[in-house]
Amino acid sequence: MKNLKYKYGNKALVTGGSSGIGKAFALELAELGIELIIVARNKEKLKSIAEKISNKYNIVPQTYSVDLSNEQAIIDFLKDIDTQEIGMLVHCAGMENNGSFLKISEEKELQMIKLNVTSTYLLTNHFAKKMSAVKKGGILLISSMAGLMGTPYFSNYAATKSYVHNLGLSLYPELKANNVDISVLAPGLTETNMVADNGIDWSKLPMSSMKPSEVAKISLNNLGKKGTIIPGFMNKMMVFMAKRIFSIKGFSIMNGWMIRKAISNNKI
Ligand SMILES: NC(=O)c1ccc[n+]([C@@H]2O[C@H](COP(=O)([O-])OP(=O)(O)OC[C@H]3O[C@@H](n4cnc5c(N)ncnc54)[C@H](OP(=O)(O)O)[C@@H]3O)[C@@H](O)[C@H]2O)c1
Repeated sequence: MKNLKYKYGNKALVTGGSSGIGKAFALELAELGIELIIVARNKEKLKSIAEKISNKYNIVPQTYSVDLSNEQAIIDFLKDIDTQEIGMLVHCAGMENNGSFLKISEEKELQMIKLNVTSTYLLTNHFAKKMSAVKKGGILLISSMAGLMGTPYFSNYAATKSYVHNLGLSLYPELKANNVDISVLAPGLTETNMVADNGIDWSKLPMSSMKPSEVAKISLNNLGKKGTIIPGFMNKMMVFMAKRIFSIKGFSIMNGWMIRKAISNNKI
């Protein structure tokens, strides 16, 4: 991890860097002395993380309040930062919806597609081109274990995260040819706001949670080394079972059975 600055340069863009996993990445990168551009919507939260970093690490992060589910806002933001040399993209901003596919509002599902899929395409495409031109850079995309297996009651979320996973994995060899690293983080349950109060009783599922700081450290240590980064032994075991022990359909059915027991009744 220590050589990240040497490998990718002095500046990183972290989306979703005001909370949860993204915030943990911002803190890890600041500790390495890497300058930061942090993006999220809530200005107060952005101010708070910027103050925390500048007090602790003597780095003053740039913050941008951008709604990354808005295509034009992304294009405008990319123009605003175009002259800056950014060596790393860590794209953490994301959202999840859960519940019966028949019940979740179309508006929320479409917003999730725009944030999880469209923004991933736009940012990855932009930085893949810029980094390839200078033959240097690192991109970390954030999928989820849900993106690697059938995940009933998170169906559209799982599908958006499969897009993220497949995009990154496909680009891994393509961009390596230009000396650009790309890896995809597929976290399991991680202690963040996203899962704190989302209608799932996680204690009823056979999952152990991880701290965002652990997840961030493991990811930064493996950027460019692994195509898919699955943090934590239990998470690795679950993916192993889903892919090697059960049939793809069989695991999806079992996963659905378990999630149905853990999800609030009013969501199904
Ligand atoms: N926590 C888990 O168990 C888990 C598991 C697997 C994968 N993940 C993935 O990890 C990533 C980070 O999630 P997290 O758990 O750290 O969640 P989190 O604590 O809720 O953080 C989400 C971050 O994204 C920002 N964000 C949300 N919507 C945005 C938008 N439209 N435009 C710009 N920024 C936006 C949020 O700030 P604002 O609200 O201020 O915009 C916040 O900084 C997500 O992609 C998630 O799918 C999480």
